[in-house]
Amino acid sequence: MEAYNETTYGDHIAHIYDDWYESYDPTAIETLAELARGGPALELGIGTGRIALPLQDKGVMVHGIEASEKMIARLQAKPGGYRIPVTLGDFGAVPVRGEFPLIYVVFNTLFALLTQEEQIQCFQNVAGHLTPEGVFVTETFMPDMKRFQRDQNINLAAMDDGYLRIDVTQHDPVQQLIYSQHVAWTESGARFYPVRLRYIWPSELDLMARLAGLHLAQRWGDWDKRPFTSDSGKLISVFSRA
Ligand SMILES: C[S@@+](CC[C@H](N)C(=O)[O-])C[C@H]1O[C@@H](n2cnc3c(N)ncnc32)[C@H](O)[C@@H]1O
Repeated sequence: MEAYNETTYGDHIAHIYDDWYESYDPTAIETLAELARGGPALELGIGTGRIALPLQDKGVMVHGIEASEKMIARLQAKPGGYRIPVTLGDFGAVPVRGEFPLIYVVFNTLFALLTQEEQIQCFQNVAGHLTPEGVFVTETFMPDMKRFQRDQNINLAAMDDGYLRIDVTQHDPVQQLIYSQHVAWTESGARFYPVRLRYIWPSELDLMARLAGLHLAQRWGDWDKRPFTSDSGKLISVFSRA
């Protein structure tokens, strides 16, 4: 099997990504459009444009960075997709020109950078591309150790006649790494979709921002801006210049 790198997830999942993750929260689009304040936005790990396309429909000019050519091809084949410029590359390096009032990374994609150092570098590179009043918005899951028994988890994701999808996960608490395989079974056999993530604790996220000269301006438990509490499954964090 080839070594896992930044193209692996997207290249494996591109052909079924929109079937599995088609829906988006309309309040996410409203909140992101509000945070862009009429200016352009940059999405890190833009994928097939699940968020970027409706945000563009709201009048926000979106630019994306994406490592997987197969994900980009899916985006560009959609109506309006050709109007979104995408830079092929590692979003951690933020390999684009210019400054943006809004840079965002959603759906836990920040965790696709697999070391703390790469995640810190990402914050620093983002800070270099924000306008003076600009914000960096991250949507990440709240790490939940209760999911794991002996650092393992198996979850039934979908089941139908002749179809079964399970997520098999191994957890490394020392490196904060999660190794998963989405496994989809049909009558013709099994197909594997590998995912690797390095999760970040909220306090660690805020420290990464501080190292980059940013500070936490807002933290919500969802896109409708409800407060983040100990029951929140995810956190939306808005960072601005210190
Ligand atoms: C979970 S998907 C999210 C896609 C999109 N943001 C969404 O919300 O639907 C993560 C995306 O990030 C891309 N990706 C992962 N690591 C990357 C990296 N280091 N640089 C650029 N893209 C990366 C993957 O190819 C994939 O398209």
